[in-house]
Amino acid sequence: MGGATTNLKLIDENGLRIDGRRADELRPMKIEAGVLKRADGSAYVEWGENKVLAAVYGPRECHPRHLQNPTRAIVQCNYNMASFSVSDRKKPGPDRRSQEISKIISEALEHVVLTHLFPRTSIDVYIEVLQANAGTRCAGLTAASVALADAGIPMRDLIAACASGKVADKIVLDLRNEEDNFGTADVPLGLVPRTGEIVLLQMDGDLSIEEFKTALTLSTDACHRIYEMQKDALRRKYCIAQAEIPASVAQPMGEPAASQPAADEGTNVNNSNDNGQQGVQ
Ligand code: CDP
Repeated sequence: MGGATTNLKLIDENGLRIDGRRADELRPMKIEAGVLKRADGSAYVEWGENKVLAAVYGPRECHPRHLQNPTRAIVQCNYNMASFSVSDRKKPGPDRRSQEISKIISEALEHVVLTHLFPRTSIDVYIEVLQANAGTRCAGLTAASVALADAGIPMRDLIAACASGKVADKIVLDLRNEEDNFGTADVPLGLVPRTGEIVLLQMDGDLSIEEFKTALTLSTDACHRIYEMQKDALRRKYCIAQAEIPASVAQPMGEPAASQPAADEGTNVNNSNDNGQQGVQ
């Protein structure tokens, strides 16, 4: 970001971007839930050339113990970019950028997890970026919320995330690397789609108020599309799991076929690991 100059034509005379997308188009996206056996919950997101894994453990005893909160769980996220994920080998281990991203993702997730149900515990979220092409914090947050749901952790809703920015004087959705490097603004957004709450919002670069509103509208619309893909990924996993369970076990006598939403608890995604019953409401 920062508007470095380039000979690349970031937007052509037909209004198309370097990868042929229109301004309001997302890169192709694929979400899969429950991809890792050892974690309590997991998800894999491919988004353009980004490849991101998220794994969740917990709620479990909080370490280090001085971080324990007697009234609620804490969400500890660890975002890591693999050395081989970018074109110039990245030095392994944490740096300021990964610490910042871990922090903002933890804070966003704490808004939706019903942390008061698990005092003194920690919910640990690991995000591994295997391949990066701009937008990895949004891909990481999107994957992490599916992984939390896959772990059966009670949440008010999922979080969907997407960035918009300014490229060649135009507001565009979901920047890829060249647009991020040679554009003049990047605004990642994390949304709770059911309530419309914004739980992550950052801005790198400058936008006028009108441009900012346009970027917000583009990202919000995209987040609703991503939300459908997230729910679809969870349904795909649990519908397959359900099909493998004998009907008599999956649906005990006297119980309705589809479970009803809890009164106030919002999205309630139950894990099938223990009892074979599940659903996204
Ligand atoms: O990935 P995201 O857009 O959330 O964060 P960023 O800090 O704006 O980074 C944008 C992109 O720059 C990353 O997705 C990577 O493709 C690239 N990058 C890199 O090549 N080397 C790094 N050490 C960090 C980022």
